[in-house]
Amino acid sequence: MTPLAGRLAVVTGASRGIGHAIARIFAEAGARVVRVARSLTAGADGLLLDYPADVADPAAVAALAARVVAEVGTPDILVNNAGVFDRIPFEQATVAELTRQLQVNLVGPFAITQAFMPAMRRAGRGQVINIGSVADATGFPENSIYSATKYGLRGMHESLAAEYHGTGIRFALVSPGPTDTPIWDGAGGSRPVRPRSEMLKPSDVAEAVLFVATRPPRMTIDVLRMSPSPTESET
Ligand SMILES: NC(=O)c1ccc[n+]([C@@H]2O[C@H](COP(=O)([O-])OP(=O)(O)OC[C@H]3O[C@@H](n4cnc5c(N)ncnc54)[C@H](OP(=O)(O)O)[C@@H]3O)[C@@H](O)[C@H]2O)c1
Repeated sequence: MTPLAGRLAVVTGASRGIGHAIARIFAEAGARVVRVARSLTAGADGLLLDYPADVADPAAVAALAARVVAEVGTPDILVNNAGVFDRIPFEQATVAELTRQLQVNLVGPFAITQAFMPAMRRAGRGQVINIGSVADATGFPENSIYSATKYGLRGMHESLAAEYHGTGIRFALVSPGPTDTPIWDGAGGSRPVRPRSEMLKPSDVAEAVLFVATRPPRMTIDVLRMSPSPTESET
């Protein structure tokens, strides 16, 4: 089954974790996939096309989008997945850290969506899938910065869905709970977290994103939330 055959997808943050899994499942479904992340090396491997870039740099994002449209084409699917996360008690949180997380988690999706939108609008079709979080609609302790970035992303998603209503461009927010990826390696915080073995797997989230990306044009998925099932000790 190759339901995405002939489609072009751009996936940010595709060097590891959830974005890596999304890129792989999209390619298995037949899509050409432009993978974006800072640590990738430019090149191609079958359906995977690697474009290293820093999504926190709006000028680099604009140049990236122009190159992708000229060299590969107009994306049918844009997945804003690149993100950073750190759990910080509020009184230790700094404006510099707020700026760092905002730049990747909110300015990045803003800039890259804006950079691709003229071509996607001209095509009259396409999907923008933003990777939110359970923290985009619920506050958790030591999460003031990350939550602010993800609430902001959800706000942008809802606004763009309204603004582009009827244009053929669809917007989806896919919001996972804790998922076992390298993002947890450096995540601080003083409170216990769910063991990594009890988190979602990147493939769980990638399958949800594939589901959204393969819905027919008549169907829009606005928000899709998923979390690890409660364990016996939590019930
Ligand atoms: N894991 C979870 O529990 C969880 C839960 C809910 C939501 N999420 C969200 O899911 C998304 C992916 O997270 P993950 O868990 O897969 O994290 P991850 O394993 O740390 O991967 C993050 C990805 O983002 C890229 N990235 C970071 N900063 C970037 C920048 N400035 N420019 C370009 N790429 C950048 C990284 O690539 P380079 O370092 O190579 O640039 C990497 O590919 C994030 O938006 C995160 O907020 C994660």
